[in-house]
Amino acid sequence: MSKKNVPPQDSDMDRRKFLSVLGWAGLALSGIVALIGNLFYLKPAVSYGPATRFRVGKPDEFKEGIKELFEDQQVVVVREKQGFAAISLVCTHLGCTVRTSDAGFECPCHGSQFDNFGEVTGGPAPKPLNWYQISIAPNGELEVDKSVQVPGGTYFRV
Ligand code: FES
Repeated sequence: MSKKNVPPQDSDMDRRKFLSVLGWAGLALSGIVALIGNLFYLKPAVSYGPATRFRVGKPDEFKEGIKELFEDQQVVVVREKQGFAAISLVCTHLGCTVRTSDAGFECPCHGSQFDNFGEVTGGPAPKPLNWYQISIAPNGELEVDKSVQVPGGTYFRV
């Protein structure tokens, strides 16, 4: 049997060209997908959470004896004769957010009660509410640092 040398027909050329374009398009697409994947890898999807230091305002904006709530930070800042205090609103029992009350603070979850200084006066809470460090920022505002706890009764004087 002899093999004839038949010149390619137009339909063969079209198919080859189509397959070549398809191959290059697939290669280009995989390259683009790999590039996008690497770009996502360079910027990790990590949430670092809210900042632990935040400013609450100028000292003269606070009235003596009035608790100023910063609910998103779960902190109350109060000005007393002794100075300023930043007291946590996180219950020391199981972490619910306490509410202010006439007597101090009360927890809606299991009924713990705290006085105006965060000391436990009732309920299952095992220890007082945390107090945080206060300082003055360069712009003159009070700055609370939730990463630094201070003993209860430690007031910041301006
Ligand atoms: S979480 Fe506050 S009393 Fe239980």
